Amino acid sequence: MSLATFLCRAQCGIEAPQVTIEVHLGSGLPSLSIVGLPEAAVRESRERVRAALLSSRYEFPARRITINLAPADLPKQGGRYDLAIALGILAASGQLRLRQTQAYEVAGELGLDGEIRPIRGLLPLALHCRRAGRTLILPAANRGEAALIEGLSYLPARHLTEVCAHLNGSQPLPLQTGHAPSGDRASVPDLCEVRGQHHAKRALTIAAAGGHSLLLIGPPGTGKTMLATRLPGILPPMSEEEAMESAALASVSRQGFRPEHWRRRPFRSPHHTASAVALVGGGNPPAPGEISLAHHGVLFLDELPEFDRRVLEVLREPLESGTITISRAHHQAEFPARFQLVAAMNPCPCGHLGDPTGQCRCTAEQIQRYRTRLSGPLLDRIDMHVEVPPLPPEQWRSPQQESATSETVRRQVTAARARQLARSGKTNHRLGAAEVERHCALQAQQARLLETACRRLGLSARAYHRILKVARTIADLAGAEHIETDHLQEAISYRRLDRRLS
Ligand SMILES: Nc1ncnc2c1ncn2[C@@H]1O[C@H](COP(=O)(O)OP(=O)(O)OP(=O)(O)O)[C@@H](O)[C@H]1O
Ligand SMILES: [Mg+2]
Ligand SMILES: [Zn+2]
Repeated sequence: MSLATFLCRAQCGIEAPQVTIEVHLGSGLPSLSIVGLPEAAVRESRERVRAALLSSRYEFPARRITINLAPADLPKQGGRYDLAIALGILAASGQLRLRQTQAYEVAGELGLDGEIRPIRGLLPLALHCRRAGRTLILPAANRGEAALIEGLSYLPARHLTEVCAHLNGSQPLPLQTGHAPSGDRASVPDLCEVRGQHHAKRALTIAAAGGHSLLLIGPPGTGKTMLATRLPGILPPMSEEEAMESAALASVSRQGFRPEHWRRRPFRSPHHTASAVALVGGGNPPAPGEISLAHHGVLFLDELPEFDRRVLEVLREPLESGTITISRAHHQAEFPARFQLVAAMNPCPCGHLGDPTGQCRCTAEQIQRYRTRLSGPLLDRIDMHVEVPPLPPEQWRSPQQESATSETVRRQVTAARARQLARSGKTNHRLGAAEVERHCALQAQQARLLETACRRLGLSARAYHRILKVARTIADLAGAEHIETDHLQEAISYRRLDRRLS
């Protein structure tokens, strides 16, 4: 019988469902057809496979070749099946001893000369392969990704002939095993490099502890960007699972995953000219956008009012749900997007409002227009607003020892997070309305204080919940069981923009 089967994997979001490639050689006019609803890319693979076989000096069988990619209803794109298809043809035509194997999974695109080219989205595929207990034959150029998966057995190969020699037993490829590296924090900038700005650093610490979103408001050059870039360095180290999820997202993105970024909290700062698709993802096949590349890390939107309002609107939903669904004609992809939002803006169009040395001539109307470019519903979803004023000259040279290092702050943040996880299983930012009632309950005196503040400031119900969550985080940083007056007052002070806009 002239049938051969090899195992591969497709890509749906960051899932990698199994695909079986069956190659059948029949009698009839020589032809090659691929069934299983393949898209254009799979049809192209027919030409690549033919050229690769011929230039590697194999015989291209003059038979009626039928290739079935099963199951038929999975989206299949990309050249990742080339290698398995080529092996299937060789096996079915007796040029390879092995007819089928459950021991291996195969991934790789072929060049016309039989060279094995790297593929996108290797990490999710490799992860599933390990779970299935199989050995992965993969492009040598993807070995850096495979190496990260603890316990994965893999065989990197450069050329089709190498894989055949291995499967025929004439020249085995050296078997490798993945070991998750610990990851280094060496290149992350330190918080102590930011002089002064104690108020903003305090807010950054609270934001880190509770996973809260943060808006920094201040004139140019006061350290807003410096502060934002230091947030990843004060967040707790990534767990293995978080690291794997964020690496898998990078792996299926257009940029691909860089192994040196393993276990580094993502920091993404898309430019304000970024499109909605660049921000939330899209395309065909759907690729993750900036919010998913920032999963388990930080999304920094500098010059927030410069972003297109419609682009910002698309952020609202993933900010609440932590995922984004991208729908296309043929299929849907869901990508996780649990990012921490940090945004920065100037206080007015010229940037110098409130700066004693600056010369702001912006009219009240211009300032109002600038600020209302941010929609109320988006502002509502930002937990904390903080002013970053110009640094007084006497602080320009203040010694760095005065300021806590990222390491010290990270320990406080980690301890506060541990309290949250023990209490509710999640960071305070992610508490739903019912959970806020339960976990952020106020004593009578504090409840009255908050009511008065809300009435005075005209706060929305959503802002009310945000204040409670931030207050809970402040109490967690202090190791306090109940939310006390100080905690609540500090949380209220982080709603500056509501006040000005109302
Ligand atoms: N608080 C600070 N401590 C130390 N250096 C600072 C501080 N603020 C500003 N600087 C210096 O000024 C430079 C600009 O800071 P940064 O880019 O963070 O300002 P910014 O507030 O983001 O300004 P912009 O509104 O123009 O984006 C920094 O690279 C740093 O050299
Ligand atoms: Mg900046
Ligand atoms: Zn101005």
